Amino acid sequence: MGVLAGRTALVTGASRGIGRGIAERLGRDGARVAVHYGRNEAAAKETVAAIEEAGGSAFAIGVELGSPGDAEALWEEFDRHADGVDILVNNAGIGVSRPIEEIDEAEYDRVFAVNVKAPFFLVRHGLTRLRDGGRVINISSGLARTAAMPNNMAYAMTKGALDVFSRDLSKVLGPRSITVNSVAPGIIATDNTYELLHASEDAWAQAAAYSALGRVGETADVADVVSFLASDAGRWVTGSWVDATGGSLT
Ligand SMILES: NC(=O)c1ccc[n+]([C@@H]2O[C@H](COP(=O)([O-])OP(=O)(O)OC[C@H]3O[C@@H](n4cnc5c(N)ncnc54)[C@H](OP(=O)(O)O)[C@@H]3O)[C@@H](O)[C@H]2O)c1
Repeated sequence: MGVLAGRTALVTGASRGIGRGIAERLGRDGARVAVHYGRNEAAAKETVAAIEEAGGSAFAIGVELGSPGDAEALWEEFDRHADGVDILVNNAGIGVSRPIEEIDEAEYDRVFAVNVKAPFFLVRHGLTRLRDGGRVINISSGLARTAAMPNNMAYAMTKGALDVFSRDLSKVLGPRSITVNSVAPGIIATDNTYELLHASEDAWAQAAAYSALGRVGETADVADVVSFLASDAGRWVTGSWVDATGGSLT
């Protein structure tokens, strides 16, 4: 029996990348996992299959985030499979990496809609589904705490907003013994960072050099931190910003 046996987890953006790593890890820990996806149903099904092959239980739910009504639509889909959630991981997110003079309002609105508004309203409409003693884990970014990549400013601003959400929500949900935390990855090899990591011959080595540990992060590096916060062992950590950057901010 895993440490999360009997719990239900919802991981947004679990079709690929960090979200997939988190979903697989929580599945191995014994949680039943709602594998949320936006556009890639086939990839979400692969995540579900991987969890099941490892002996776990999972189902896929697909709703594109970033427009009005998205959160309610996601919960309606979720309700067809489960009657409550213990662990909500707000992981789905998009980036914007260009100089400020090249960013238009539509792009700015989009990154805030997906990265900030969707997590906020997923919690807002999930309050009755979240079980007491549960967990909300928001996937932030080390870029909320460093100006090392100023072309990612609008993206970093979304993560700063998400961090304030984690902090203040912890006070709101504390009386129900629900913990709320931000987990901030550094550079992790996913589709999201493919261009960055392959921009030049030495791009990978440059990215690795940001970390005190001298390597690019893997999705499991973040999933293990989320697993700890989701477990009973993480019960006394709330309102916190957890650095999962491999020492990239030092
Ligand atoms: N990779 C890094 O270095 C890094 C560093 C710091 C923080 N982060 C954060 O970690 C999270 C995951 O990043 P990642 O690198 O794993 O990204 P990724 O490989 O691009 O995967 C993104 C995931 O989010 C989903 N998603 C994106 N936009 C969506 C939308 N509008 N509606 C619904 N689902 C959507 C995607 O689903 P579909 O493919 O099904 O559409 C996919 O499952 C993000 O919040 C990101 O900001 C990443």
